[in-house]
Amino acid sequence: MKNKIIAIDGYASTGKSTLSKKLAKYLDYIYIDTGFMYRAITYYALKKNLFIQTNINCSKIENLLNNSSFSVSKKYNSLLFNKKLLGDEVRTIIISEKVSKIAMLKKVRDYMVIQQRALASKENSVVEGRDIGTIVFPDATKKFFLTADQSVRAKRRYKELIINDPDVSYEQILKNVIKRDHEDSNRKLSPLKRAKGSIEIDTTKLTIDQAFDLIISNL
Ligand code: C5P
Repeated sequence: MKNKIIAIDGYASTGKSTLSKKLAKYLDYIYIDTGFMYRAITYYALKKNLFIQTNINCSKIENLLNNSSFSVSKKYNSLLFNKKLLGDEVRTIIISEKVSKIAMLKKVRDYMVIQQRALASKENSVVEGRDIGTIVFPDATKKFFLTADQSVRAKRRYKELIINDPDVSYEQILKNVIKRDHEDSNRKLSPLKRAKGSIEIDTTKLTIDQAFDLIISNL
């Protein structure tokens, strides 16, 4: 029997992660946060100085990919990178400002799709990202597409980030949200767009519980 896949795509900070995590728990599915995967590679690319101003050292990125693995931790309802649990270090504004550049690379995207399909081949999964319903799992059991006003999304992200980074500003986050939306939606490979047959949910005026109820009622 084929595994069930719930694809949750959408713009940055629309509530995808919180809702996907909650849904995976509720359904007892595994949770695959594909944004985390791009962030983890970006985190290590920065650590290894693979960004030279705006350029990326592509052969070294390939090397990094060859030495990377992702696995599922049901205990933490999270992915592990090389068996390690990564937390807030991959969610900083610095990573958010670089991740779309890494996510544009063909080698990186090809690698991610293979990993994501392998992870979801084992169990029923809630898979969250930008290209899940369009490219990674076009035959997903259910597809959702989340949107929300940019200023509301930036406010939500600001509230999260200010806890660990008192230097971060709302304006910086709004700028990043706008830039990421643009780069993710306009890249040549697997651009962010609403998948055919997906259910669109605008979370601008919804609480997490209201958005969650909407998802459940559409399953
Ligand atoms: O969802 P999150 O904000 O963590 O994603 C970080 C970035 O990773 C996105 O802005 C996008 O550039 C990239 N991404 C992607 N495809 C996915 C998931 C994330 O290109 N499936």
